Amino acid sequence: MRTIQSGKGMVLGILGSGSGSNMQAILDAIAEGSLRARIALVLSDRKDAFILQRAERHGLATGVIDCGSWATKFPDEVQQATAERLLAAGVEWVCLAGFMRMIKQPLLAAFPNRIINIHPSLLPAFPGVAAWKQALDAGVGETGCTVHWVDEGMDTGPVILQGKVPVLAGDTAELLHQRIQQLEHRLYPAALQLLSQRENHQN
Ligand code: GRF
Repeated sequence: MRTIQSGKGMVLGILGSGSGSNMQAILDAIAEGSLRARIALVLSDRKDAFILQRAERHGLATGVIDCGSWATKFPDEVQQATAERLLAAGVEWVCLAGFMRMIKQPLLAAFPNRIINIHPSLLPAFPGVAAWKQALDAGVGETGCTVHWVDEGMDTGPVILQGKVPVLAGDTAELLHQRIQQLEHRLYPAALQLLSQRENHQN
């Protein structure tokens, strides 16, 4: 098994399908010194995703994951090729940041206990899409976001870190999503730093 050298900092690969605001938050945390890491590769299954533009602006290596005509499926052979690209770039930790396809073998096998995700609810509540809207529709008084390990299920892996936000009177889905995202931008880098410290402790 690959091990991280103590004190070297984490080598991250980011997979995203959308805006990339969580990737930006990770970059900001690295720049301000609160997270010892570097991003070695950013991949998206959508060639027009803003996450790729953001990454390029920061001079990061980027690439497109080509799933052909599959709208949501992430075929095994594409997962294998993705794993190889990440490994070739030196990636040690894979961070999903708004990546809209399900991770299965062989990506999980290539990065055992090294793939994490951020989800906009207090898991196990409201897995799946538009979790903030699910929370609003359910009438809960608080929701939040979760950084968790990725397994073969839909947002089912063990929780690493969670943060709560209130649902306020008059909230719209958009307002609630914004409040959750503000917290995500603190929680994701904090969770990575926590994992980095744990790892260094074990080595
Ligand atoms: C975040 O809300 C995250 O919780 C969910 O997808 C969204 C990604 O946003 N998994 P961004 O692309 O990081 O801005």
